[in-house]
Amino acid sequence: MTPVANILFASSILALRLSSLRAVASSPPRSFSSSRPSPEPLQRSSRFAGKTFIVTGGTSGVGENIALQLAAEGAGGVSVVGRNSTRGAGVVAKLEGLGCPGLFIKASMDDVAQVSDVVPKHEARFGVAHGLVNSAGDTSRGWLKDQSVESWDRLFAVNARAPFILTQAATNSMIEAGVRGAVVNIITITSHGGQPYLCGYAASKGALATFTKNAAHQLRRSRIRCNGINIGWTASAAEHRLQVEETGDEDWLEKAGEKVPFGRLVETGDISELACFLLSERSGVCTGSVIDFDQMVMGGYD
Ligand SMILES: *[C@@H]1O[C@H](CO)[C@@H](O)[C@H](O)[C@H]1NC(C)=O
Repeated sequence: MTPVANILFASSILALRLSSLRAVASSPPRSFSSSRPSPEPLQRSSRFAGKTFIVTGGTSGVGENIALQLAAEGAGGVSVVGRNSTRGAGVVAKLEGLGCPGLFIKASMDDVAQVSDVVPKHEARFGVAHGLVNSAGDTSRGWLKDQSVESWDRLFAVNARAPFILTQAATNSMIEAGVRGAVVNIITITSHGGQPYLCGYAASKGALATFTKNAAHQLRRSRIRCNGINIGWTASAAEHRLQVEETGDEDWLEKAGEKVPFGRLVETGDISELACFLLSERSGVCTGSVIDFDQMVMGGYD
């Protein structure tokens, strides 16, 4: 392309992106669909060409959307880790529809043996992963006065221990193979303290936030990066199930949107945009960051 054609090409892409952003900003609140991530992974590129990724919690919600966005940007293979084979097969079919080989790895994040099998299974099919996304989480509720030890232990097993096991295995392989990869941990705004009914959940995610920084610090000389995203209240399939179960209201999402500053909850597509940036070389040397991704500002008050 000539320089002028190049500029024209770049500006038409920019105009396209701006008009799609405007379309998103002005559209009425989306009706919730648990079977389709929203917004659709429309940002196409080839920045992940030849690279492979492991995404836990990849069979629904935030994890599924990240997996699909990686595929839309040219990933050479994505393993989605989850417990539900039906949903796993569904996501693999969507990945392959986007031209990306997919692998479903069935594993429960509270089971050490199953978690330990994940990285070897990915490597047997795709070789050393360039990126790991720890998106699986247990969101069980519990108050200080009555959270059981069993519930506390499971929260820590799923939300802190599993990401540790996976990060250890994935980054040891990266170091050995000389791969300058990246890890992204999906955390929660609640890791700053959180609501009283999320006692064990908040503590386990606080552990993950600290682990993110400790791992990042250890891995930086190997040029492997590790970052986290503290996501706020998000419109995911799991949240939809929980809200309908608790409130019996199928229209909770619209009402919730009316109460928050930006008129809508965080959407899975918002998070995959940042997760993919952190997984890509575009984020440069950024490591050890835990980014608040919410419309509630920690430290602010009225
Ligand atoms: C697995 O996912 C499918 C599709 O979402 C759902 O119908 C089914 O109940 C799930 N199975 C289990 C055991 O949760």
